[in-house]
Amino acid sequence: MENSNNPQLNKLSPDQGAENKSPVINDIPSVSKLPAEIEKHKFWENPTFLFVCMGILTIIAMLSTYFIAQKYDNPMVVIASISLVTGIITLVGGMTIKTIDELATTNRMKTEFVSIASHQLRTPLSIIKWYVEFLSKKEIQKNFTDKEIKYIKTINDSNQRMIKLVNDLLDISRIENGRMQIKLEKTNFVELCQNIIKENQPIAELKKIKISFKYDPSIPLILADPKRIGIAMDNLITNAVKYIQSDKGQGQISIEISNKNKNIIFNISDNGVGIPAGDQKKIFKKFFRANNTMRLQTSGTGLGLFIAKAIIESHKGSIWFVSKENEGTTFYFTLPLGKK
Ligand SMILES: Nc1ncnc2c1ncn2[C@@H]1O[C@H](COP(=O)(O)OP(=O)(O)OP(=O)(O)O)[C@@H](O)[C@H]1O
Ligand SMILES: [Mg+2]
Repeated sequence: MENSNNPQLNKLSPDQGAENKSPVINDIPSVSKLPAEIEKHKFWENPTFLFVCMGILTIIAMLSTYFIAQKYDNPMVVIASISLVTGIITLVGGMTIKTIDELATTNRMKTEFVSIASHQLRTPLSIIKWYVEFLSKKEIQKNFTDKEIKYIKTINDSNQRMIKLVNDLLDISRIENGRMQIKLEKTNFVELCQNIIKENQPIAELKKIKISFKYDPSIPLILADPKRIGIAMDNLITNAVKYIQSDKGQGQISIEISNKNKNIIFNISDNGVGIPAGDQKKIFKKFFRANNTMRLQTSGTGLGLFIAKAIIESHKGSIWFVSKENEGTTFYFTLPLGKK
């Protein structure tokens, strides 16, 4: 892979990103449930775990009160102490379990709410999109002033951003509910990638960014969900374009698809702002945005990589990156070739 403006980045190998590598999880339905489950219950918040701890604590309390009471030779002190300690432990344990249960219910309601609200927003947004597209037609715009044309473009850009956000939120609630459906079909991965590059080309051209694309011609068709893999790929390409500063020299993006060890390897390398070392561990977290990109005031919600990771892992693949601040970033993902 060539990245003439960024020799440092070319030296980075996929292995150097090992610490940023996401674990491969093989079971498709449980993968999509995973983020929500992790958020809902850490293992020490599990009711069974709490009951076992309460039991152990009760036994320890009973034994210590028994030995203390024996020392003072008073059976009433034993009974009173055991009842008091057991009562306190049961009360605290019960309250903790109730709180966890309430939190889990609130979390479920929140996910449901986001899902319903996003669905409801889709209809009015589609209507706005339809009218804006109509108003953007050349034959309609010939009657408009320059100012009016500019306003329509601004409405269009904002509406597109809202549509993306609503779609992202819907994807997130599907992932969290374990309802992200993967429809596997024979997919031409190279063609899919070419189409997505084409869609990103206009913005890249506006920023004078050069996109190069290389692929191994022997890559076979793979079993994948083209719509979902397309979303993951688009998130990575959009990021590469977005996080290159056009006023800092020639922007360069290199995309390569290779075929190694029964896996397809996709990598995208840019000479953009890079990800600060301190932020790298959190980059796949929902709503997380690195400090440097926040400072640059680029638009974004911090959902793209979270969704991309869930999609790739639901295909039994793996995603990771190598990055240096002010030098650039390379994202990698693999997909198993599987049966054709
Ligand atoms: N190629 C890249 N170069 C530099 N930083 C990146 C790159 N890709 C991702 N990042 C960092 O990771 C963060 C999370 O990326 P992610 O795609 O999830 O969200 P986003 O781009 O901020 O918003 P959106 O939800 O619209 O995609 C970004 O905000 C940015 O800080
Ligand atoms: Mg993004």
